Amino acid sequence: MKHINDFMKMKVSGSKIVMVTAYDYPSAKFVEQAEADMILVGDSLGMVVLGLDSTVPVTMEDMIHHAKAVKRGAVDTFIVVDMPFMSYHLSIRDTLLNGARIMQETGAHAVKLEGGGEVADHIKALVKSGIPVVAHLGLTPQSVAVLGGYKVQGKDSETARKLIQDAKKCQEAGAFALVLECVPRQLAEEISAALEIPTIGIGAGASVDGQVLVYHDILTYGVNRIPKFVKQFSNIGEPILAGLNAFVNEVRAGQFPENRHSFTMKEEELKVLYG
Ligand code: KIV
Ligand code: NA
Repeated sequence: MKHINDFMKMKVSGSKIVMVTAYDYPSAKFVEQAEADMILVGDSLGMVVLGLDSTVPVTMEDMIHHAKAVKRGAVDTFIVVDMPFMSYHLSIRDTLLNGARIMQETGAHAVKLEGGGEVADHIKALVKSGIPVVAHLGLTPQSVAVLGGYKVQGKDSETARKLIQDAKKCQEAGAFALVLECVPRQLAEEISAALEIPTIGIGAGASVDGQVLVYHDILTYGVNRIPKFVKQFSNIGEPILAGLNAFVNEVRAGQFPENRHSFTMKEEELKVLYG
């Protein structure tokens, strides 16, 4: 299993870091089998697994419940768990208690949180307490209501400058990696070059130190809207629906189950039973 120092080394040597989200036991097993470097238990689970409109309603209990299942499926992969909405904005004490719960109850190796300068003190406190932190900048979905929608961030020079400053603040605060979501590729390249810690992009182009995508987006698994930055590497929705349709049809047609799918009682036992 790779650790924090390995991710730093990968940046230096130029080998791309691959992160995939997972939310339960089977998805975690598959991602581990595919030898991804890191698993993210993203609060995107609110949308892709729970059917919510945004990540805002996702709770600590949701994150812990899913992260525990992921850990059972991927015992040998570095696991990062998202801190949910408002779990790292109140007091430093609240942030530490929430970070500690995630680490202790799920067996995760790090937490991820959204924001730059505003949450730098919280990042610092977590790291000082022994909780590794991944920062997340650009499109930060927990702030969708303030951002006014899921839009590319840092397109003009002013917001781009703020993003570069925030990225540096995350590094100074002690984050060991930075997720960059939906930022122009030139800006992502600039930030990656300016930082010592690795950047992991999603909709941030190729000039970053790694890539992350949502499991359900990669596989086209029950998702409604596919963002521009996603490549659909396979479409498992099709075989899933074909399998389910076949089951429904065979039951209705009396074709399933056959005798080989059922259990048999010995004749002599039947005789005793019915005389
Ligand atoms: O929740 C999530 O899946 C994420 C990734 C998109 C980075 O935060
Ligand atoms: Na997230």
